[in-house]
Amino acid sequence: MASVTSLTANVHQRLADALTAALPAADTVADPLLRRSDRADFQANGILALAKKAKANPRELAAVVVGQVVTGDVIKDIEVSGPGFLNITITDKAIVENLAARAADEERLGVPYAENPGTTVVDYAQPNVAKEMHVGHLRSAVIGDSVVKLLEFSGENVIRRHHIGDWGTQFGMLIQYLDEHPHELDHKADTEDTAASGAEAMSNLDRLYKTARKLFDSDEEFKTRARRRVVELQAGDPRTLAMWQKFVDESKIYFFSVFEKLDMEIRDPDIVGESGYNDMLDETCRLLEESGVAVRSEGALCVFFDDIKGPDGNLVPLIVKKSDGGYGYAATDLSAIRDRVFNLKANTITYVVDARQSLHFKMVFETARRAGWLNGDVEAHQLAFGTVLGKDGKPFKTREGETVRLVDLLDEAIERATAVVREKDTQNQLSEEEIAERGAQVGIGAVKYADLSTSANRDYKFDLDQMVSLNGDTSVYLQYAYARIQSILRKAGDARPAAHAELELTEAERALGLHVDGFAEMIADAAGEYAPHKLAAYLYQLASLYTTFYDKCPVLKADTPAQVENRLFLCDVTARTLHQGMALLGIRTPERL
Ligand code: ARG
Repeated sequence: MASVTSLTANVHQRLADALTAALPAADTVADPLLRRSDRADFQANGILALAKKAKANPRELAAVVVGQVVTGDVIKDIEVSGPGFLNITITDKAIVENLAARAADEERLGVPYAENPGTTVVDYAQPNVAKEMHVGHLRSAVIGDSVVKLLEFSGENVIRRHHIGDWGTQFGMLIQYLDEHPHELDHKADTEDTAASGAEAMSNLDRLYKTARKLFDSDEEFKTRARRRVVELQAGDPRTLAMWQKFVDESKIYFFSVFEKLDMEIRDPDIVGESGYNDMLDETCRLLEESGVAVRSEGALCVFFDDIKGPDGNLVPLIVKKSDGGYGYAATDLSAIRDRVFNLKANTITYVVDARQSLHFKMVFETARRAGWLNGDVEAHQLAFGTVLGKDGKPFKTREGETVRLVDLLDEAIERATAVVREKDTQNQLSEEEIAERGAQVGIGAVKYADLSTSANRDYKFDLDQMVSLNGDTSVYLQYAYARIQSILRKAGDARPAAHAELELTEAERALGLHVDGFAEMIADAAGEYAPHKLAAYLYQLASLYTTFYDKCPVLKADTPAQVENRLFLCDVTARTLHQGMALLGIRTPERL
């Protein structure tokens, strides 16, 4: 279906044309700086600056523009206000016709594709093998998933990469222990239930990790054997690698169970962990050393930066290869950049990673720039996210001071949400199964929405009471708005949604309609700025405007059949916009709640 020109874009074009005609000498395209406004439908603030540049009187210039603009079809009124602003009102007819054109596009609600799509690699949802997932992994997964969806919806070619932590010296200890206790990863239960096998996998891994660690710290001989294992692993000894693979596979059972709980599709081929770049590490170092980007310092291969110093005032380098010959996180990330630029042909690489790793990425990106891997054609940046805080405003920990397990949090959210769904179902219309399904959709939606509704770089408080509250800026509020619309549509009987552009609209209908029309522009902004919180804010406002409309305008009991149909139409296009927007946040919109 064809994309729809929004009213904003339409009015913008008319004003820009009028301005260009009024200012023939201007060398650039005149931007009227059009904004939605409370006083009229739109306000244009650009005339002041343009008049100043052209040494003209702003009010006079504004009057010329007003004289040039055709009114009647789209623009109802245009008038000069204050020192040279323009207030613009749109005709009711244009609003309804515009929404009708959007509604006719089943798939995209008239949202156009971005003009110059490219290839973006998104590095997100990157837990670590043999370790529990925590709230940091939640943020990366939730934000990354929404960014991927927003970009894909805009027409970008997106390649997902889950850079899991699957390599490192700790595997020597784990593998050695497993070799000496070969049945430690065996599953006792033979179950089809992913959650159950995920839980068993993690408890196996956790137990094994703890006992191996204890032995490693207390038994010098085991320590020596474990260290030898690391060397064998890095040398690619087949038996050692096979055992390492067992840890990876076991961890994947666990990861997939968590991602399933999160209602998130993570695909196995997109999981390319640190180990995936092993074959490139030598060459990465060689290229950096030969080009002089990296230098030898105290036996290690390092990259230095003038502005990065430690507390003692000495330069802190990025260590690409350690003095013992081992490679670390930086070498892997630099090799991953080469892969993403030269093999995957990325134009943009986006890393959805905790802000506490910002220094690492700053150094890695600068190194890659010096090496010429990143340049004007390929950019990398970190979509850095803040810390999840407990109710007390401190980083989220259990009472014992331990990291909170992500699964426990998700289970608690689902439990609370299920209680809310049950309580709301006063007439006992839902079966137990339905309550459980809705409870999961509401609970997981609540967790995702709380994360996505504040801008990623800020910390936020993990407060379940607030998250599952029916009032306020929560996903439950949005889900209920959606379900309420569906219930009206079901009750409509023979009356079907239909646009009637000849009708006069009330204020509440106009406000709702204009907001729905703004969906496409918001999507372009949110995708362009990697800002799902803009989408969340838009949806919250949409639901609020809908609530006002619903309170003020009877739908099924409207005055005339045409008005009933037109209001049903407004309901329907609102619901579809909510549904589409929520889907881009990774949140379900159940038909009934
Ligand atoms: N596994 C890391 C962690 O848990 C995050 C990896 C981020 N991605 C990257 N390319 N370094 O902190």
